[in-house]
Amino acid sequence: MTNVVIIGMQWGDEGKGKIVDLLCPAFDAVARYQGGHNAGHTVKFGDQHFSLHLIPSGILRPGMRCILGNGMVISPEAFFRELEKLHAAGVVTEGRLFVSNRAHAVMPYAPLLDQAREAARGKDKIGTTSRGIGPTYEAKASRYGFRLGDLGTPLFEQRLPRAVERVAAELASLAGTGAEEAPSATEIAAVCRDWAERLRPFLKDTEGLLHAWGEAGESVLLEGAQGTFLDVDHGTFPFVTSSNSTAGGAAIGTGLPPNAITGAVGVLKAYATRVGEGPFATEETGEVEAHLRQRGNEYGTTTGRPRRCGWLDVVSARYSRRINGIQAIALTKLDVLDSLAEIPVCVGYRVGGTVHREYSMELEHGDFEPVYKTLKGWQRETVGTLEWEALPPEARDYIDFIEQEVGASVSLISTGPRREETLVRRGPALEHLLETRLDAVIAGR
Ligand code: GDP
Ligand code: IMO
Ligand code: MG
Repeated sequence: MTNVVIIGMQWGDEGKGKIVDLLCPAFDAVARYQGGHNAGHTVKFGDQHFSLHLIPSGILRPGMRCILGNGMVISPEAFFRELEKLHAAGVVTEGRLFVSNRAHAVMPYAPLLDQAREAARGKDKIGTTSRGIGPTYEAKASRYGFRLGDLGTPLFEQRLPRAVERVAAELASLAGTGAEEAPSATEIAAVCRDWAERLRPFLKDTEGLLHAWGEAGESVLLEGAQGTFLDVDHGTFPFVTSSNSTAGGAAIGTGLPPNAITGAVGVLKAYATRVGEGPFATEETGEVEAHLRQRGNEYGTTTGRPRRCGWLDVVSARYSRRINGIQAIALTKLDVLDSLAEIPVCVGYRVGGTVHREYSMELEHGDFEPVYKTLKGWQRETVGTLEWEALPPEARDYIDFIEQEVGASVSLISTGPRREETLVRRGPALEHLLETRLDAVIAGR
């Protein structure tokens, strides 16, 4: 049994969906453990193209069981919309999709609060996806939220009016920013009764399912959403999401005990991007940004917003390796750098006369200069390369440099959006993580 977590090492959109899909043949099930439909995970193979927001990327592998874990916040509306799209594309989901009854519901008023709070922040806005994710986690922590399994119950009907009163008061206080009025408790109760009815076939005690599968020797791939620097504890607070996207969140968000999680794969983009506001040490503007955005098609999968682009930062990637216990790196979008003559990589932060080589929260206050080491580009196409020896020597040097600086082996190298465009490097890291099923991953590419 191996339970492996897939983690974004930067600010999300590293290509987690692609890597989860690729690794599926080594696992029996896939579980999401945090976040909601703020995520956008792209999976491509052959001429197929899917964008998943709530449902684990494993759903595209026939027969693979998928769990939406207790640590997620779930908009039933978004869930049913996504399901419909999958069915329209011919994906069969019957009997293999399970939703935790403990996951919190993104209530109809949560997006209204999200938008109104952002408007009220003015120039200090976070740049959220406006999906209601923050307000839903806030309601959970404040204990006025509702779990999916609560919807439509007598206790729910009894608690709802107080929650709606609270929301209505906040929205009224933000009316000056154009906030909409909250729907009435009666309207919301009707919507939630309908949701409860339609959710019934999916709702399960998913912790119990995972425990039973584990006892039967089955392995689970845990699909992280967002990334290390969007984690509410370890990220660039307050410009973060409201959940623990780092590896520790996988235990909390599924009910698997921490010692059942046997490994972590970090997904690292060969450069860096960020959507929304907040510190970004290696951000570029002008030609470099335009080049990376255009070659990398850097537009949000969820909101369509252009992503901010810049260079790779190995100082923060090393921090991410440590926080998550990353044993192997999946390096993505190497092909996006193909035409560059030189590639700067951030190796330190200069504050006054001192160069800091380790990441720390003080650096987020921004009074620093990134220190770059410039590596030679390869100026040759790498798209679809499947063998290490077939990569240009400068690309191999770039990857070797990342391994040394970050301190984990680069075991997967992605040179295109499609499943097939992934180089798999055999070695102790992947053999430890995937045990005997590495061959199945290579064959399933
Ligand atoms: P996620 O949120 O981490 O799953 O990543 P997204 O799907 O939001 O963003 C990654 C984008 O890069 C998607 O459009 C992928 O199809 C694409 N992608 C993934 N890996 C590669 C790669 O190696 N090369 C290129 N060119 N595109 C890639
Ligand atoms: P995936 O899983 C990139 C960002 C938002 C914003 C901040 C808070 O596709 O990598 P929220 O709506 O969560 O309250 O927004 O987090 N954000 C993401 N950025 N990829 C994501 O998910 C993101 N999910 C949230 O842009 O800056
Ligand atoms: Mg994404």
